[in-house]
Amino acid sequence: MTKVTVQSPANIAFIKYWGQTNENIFIPRNNNISMTLSACQTITTIERSSDIKEDKIELYNGTDYAPLFKDTHKNKNAYDQVERIRKMSGSKDKVHIRSKNTFPSDAGIASSASGFSALTAALLLVFDQKKIFNDKKELSKEVRLCGSGSAARSVYGGFVELLTGNSHDESYAVQIADENHWDLVDIVAVINTNKKKISSSQGHASADSSPYYKTRLEEMKSRIKTTREAIVEKNSEKLGPCIEEDTISLHIVMMTSKPANYIWEPGTIAIMKAIVEWREKDNLQAYFSIDAGANVHVICEKKNAQEVQKRLKAIEFVKDTIYNEPCTGTHEIQDHLF
Ligand code: PMV
Repeated sequence: MTKVTVQSPANIAFIKYWGQTNENIFIPRNNNISMTLSACQTITTIERSSDIKEDKIELYNGTDYAPLFKDTHKNKNAYDQVERIRKMSGSKDKVHIRSKNTFPSDAGIASSASGFSALTAALLLVFDQKKIFNDKKELSKEVRLCGSGSAARSVYGGFVELLTGNSHDESYAVQIADENHWDLVDIVAVINTNKKKISSSQGHASADSSPYYKTRLEEMKSRIKTTREAIVEKNSEKLGPCIEEDTISLHIVMMTSKPANYIWEPGTIAIMKAIVEWREKDNLQAYFSIDAGANVHVICEKKNAQEVQKRLKAIEFVKDTIYNEPCTGTHEIQDHLF
């Protein structure tokens, strides 16, 4: 019997991944850039033994561990990843997996990013693939193969870029700067924790049906370059507009794809408008980013965080706020979940 535990953070994409060049190996159509989130972590423990009869994945639902059924694309991908990495190791052992999030799942806080990176890394460790686990480039490629490109970015701490490419070997994550580089924070304004209606995989597949997708891709090269520079220079007034433009561009594509995907709620728009007003009226430098959920990620420098959080809490739609700093990437821990 072997048991390992891995912890991995979610991340917020400043420049988002949308659409794939190769949907079988999940290569993102555009380079994408993110920051890891300290308060949004997944912890995954895996036990491997020849005595276990069947693979079992269980997720903590707030009170108990409930079995993960193969009823959705994403859940099936998790079991496929177990199969793939076991095969790679030549073992026949089955596994018992338990996973716990420190934040609400499926609310546009990219639980798939932390979940799939923790799962893949723990599988590599439990099936004796330590060499791949220790090589972040290789680890990010293995994580990408579980179907969530954004998860590949969580292997590094801090600010990370996932590269597009023409083959499996060309599409991997690179670190732009580590978690100690810049006091930037992401305060998530939680509006609701409802499950997504349209999954990311359905969204990636329908990206091309939007007449605006081509424009998005054309804009991408210069936006990626400016974002990279802004992070290296620690320039929030250069970074902020890139983050907001990319969010709007992504959501225009989503709303004009077939089927159309309208994610924003009244609270989403209220927060976006408030942030723009705070900047214009009070010179409070904060910027919005919206992923595949109604909640709004508010990016600002740490010196403005208290004021931003106070103002967010005063908005009637905001049920909760989650304060995140950049943090370390995927790593092994010794405290097992069972
Ligand atoms: O990694 P996926 O397949 O869950 O897709 C992520 C898509 C977005 O969350 C909308 C953007 C991103 O890059 O995180």
